[in-house]
Amino acid sequence: MATKELVTKVWIEEGCIVCDACETTAPTVFEVLEDTCIVRPAALEAEFTKPLTQDIIDAAEECPVDVIKFETAPFEVAEEVVAAADAAEASAGADAPEAPAQKPAAAAKPAHAAKAAASGAAKDQAKTAATAKAPAPPASEEIGDPAMQALLRAARSRGGNAAIARRAGGVSSPLDSKDPDELPPDARFAKTLDAAKKSKEALTRREVMSSSAAAMGLGWGLFATTSVGSVVAFQRFMMPNALEEPDPRVRVGPVSKYMEMAPGEVNEDFKPRGIWMIRTEDRIAALNIICTHLGCIPNWLANDRKFLCPCHGSGYYYTGINFQGPTPRPLERFRLSVVDGIVVVDKSKKFQYELGQWANPESFIAV
Ligand code: FES
Repeated sequence: MATKELVTKVWIEEGCIVCDACETTAPTVFEVLEDTCIVRPAALEAEFTKPLTQDIIDAAEECPVDVIKFETAPFEVAEEVVAAADAAEASAGADAPEAPAQKPAAAAKPAHAAKAAASGAAKDQAKTAATAKAPAPPASEEIGDPAMQALLRAARSRGGNAAIARRAGGVSSPLDSKDPDELPPDARFAKTLDAAKKSKEALTRREVMSSSAAAMGLGWGLFATTSVGSVVAFQRFMMPNALEEPDPRVRVGPVSKYMEMAPGEVNEDFKPRGIWMIRTEDRIAALNIICTHLGCIPNWLANDRKFLCPCHGSGYYYTGINFQGPTPRPLERFRLSVVDGIVVVDKSKKFQYELGQWANPESFIAV
């Protein structure tokens, strides 16, 4: 057995630029949110991070803003693992043009110093590329580090982790078909996380579809309401307003009723409709109850045999002729006709005494 430095703790400091590089490199360790990156809960355990040591180191080195930090501790591993790791580190050190300063904020990682130095020269270039979009890292089996390959194989032998399958280019892992309860904690966590993500994506799609349908329904509803309103408004515009006004023709009863009235008698049955029916010596007439002074409604004073306006004192005989007060002229009379024995008053047609219109046959019914 020999000693090997393995990651026992990983964390992220402030300053993440949300470039996705760390999650691409170590998806079971890091999760990039909308405005920062976090270490997944399972990766807070040393037993979870130890077999992912190389992934975490790669992610830290690829991070363009150096916010990924980690700690390592020595662990005994098989001799062949250490030998393979040392060979890889020696090879990396020989290829390095010069050893740049070790990542200052990162905690101790002596076993990987040579590898970090080897990749240091290319780091600035990697930062620029990762800021735009992190390049896809090589598969675990292609990382060229025999020591880490051995560690990953060991991890797979004890249940592995989802990152192995992902890093292998999307090839499905045998673990995918296993019941979650049969998996080790890290693989179970990754599988649960994948299921949650797929569920969330499906829910998001349903919400979008639902929102779209609701928006379309609302839009069609508004369109229909507006259309109906427009049709109604158009119909109201096209139809004459006169049809909505009260019919000016008033059926005031059988003509015999008025024939039986005594001359000089006034019938007020239709005053609420604006009409006084009167009987003279030789005719039946319909008076407009509106005072010709300023429009008030006079009262019929039967004992005085006159109409008296309460507003300014204008007085009219029962015939409608004015005889006192400020009014300048007699009351008006409406057109009359008899239809099937019924007297019909047409208020749309008025006759004025001062204009000689009371002589018009339409202004009375002869007795
Ligand atoms: Fe009738 Fe003036 S309104 S007298």
